[in-house]
Amino acid sequence: MIKAENVNYIYQQGTPFERQALYDINLEIPDGSFTAIIGHTGSGKSTLIQHFNALVKPTSGKITIDGIDVTAAKTDLKLIRHTVGLVFQYPEHQLFEETVYKDIAFGPTNMGLSSEEIDERVRESAALAGLNENLLERSPFDLSGGQKRRAAIAGVLAMKPKVLILDEPTAGLDPSGRDSILKTIKSLHKKNRDMIIIFISHSMEDVAKTAEHIIVMNKGRIETEGNVSEIFEKADTLRKIGLNVPQITTLCDRLRNAGLNLPKNIYTVGYAADALTSLLGGGRNV
Ligand SMILES: Nc1ncnc2c1ncn2[C@@H]1O[C@H](COP(=O)(O)OP(=O)(O)O)[C@@H](O)[C@H]1O
Ligand SMILES: [Mg+2]
Repeated sequence: MIKAENVNYIYQQGTPFERQALYDINLEIPDGSFTAIIGHTGSGKSTLIQHFNALVKPTSGKITIDGIDVTAAKTDLKLIRHTVGLVFQYPEHQLFEETVYKDIAFGPTNMGLSSEEIDERVRESAALAGLNENLLERSPFDLSGGQKRRAAIAGVLAMKPKVLILDEPTAGLDPSGRDSILKTIKSLHKKNRDMIIIFISHSMEDVAKTAEHIIVMNKGRIETEGNVSEIFEKADTLRKIGLNVPQITTLCDRLRNAGLNLPKNIYTVGYAADALTSLLGGGRNV
């Protein structure tokens, strides 16, 4: 479990550039949770998740992960980094080895595992990340954008973290690349039920399709959190803080305002179709 208590973070404290990025963050993310963190650019999403693997230490407050106090002055950084795998935004910029295989093997090699164990992990995590085995001997620089991103995700998975965090994993991809990465993340959740998976996004549409729990951030604070359906009941709040709710939610809101008796939390086209069909069926006496 991840637990954050009264976390505040101030960048460049004591300088003229001082800027508070997080205010009084309190949260609990249970094991097995599939959580999305959503919010406008600058709302503090990246700053928050960088606390989870001790890249950033809070100005005040405390965070424990799997019982480890990651905010203590003396922390076992190695243990934390093996427990919490962080896939940065645009992770493909960090690929650097001659082959994709070596890149994915980098983490497990540093963990001091045997070459058999490393080989097993590289192949297993490449498959989990949706990367074809025949790409392993290629140079990472020969891969497509989507494939590079999968290679970077595989490199983190190869360390078998208990917590997997992805910072804007779909940023810069075209719609089909985006959908396919989201599907991969969803399948990772299905195959690793104990793992906490957290991904950052600024698209409500992507989050609705993918996550189970949603944390909404606004200006360094947690604005609201809940399951997908609870969050979409608050479409007005989301719009107020500048988040684009899915087009289907807006359409159904308009139909409701025009007098149709539709539920408030519609966020997929399939659900909207069902609701409209039953409304039409109920309205007509056939
Ligand atoms: N290295 C930094 N130095 C100073 N301010 C920063 C730094 N990184 C981020 N910030 C500021 O902290 C706030 C939160 O940023 P960030 O966590 O990157 O938000 P998000 O990931 O939601 O876009 C923003 O106002 C941003 O300008
Ligand atoms: Mg960010």
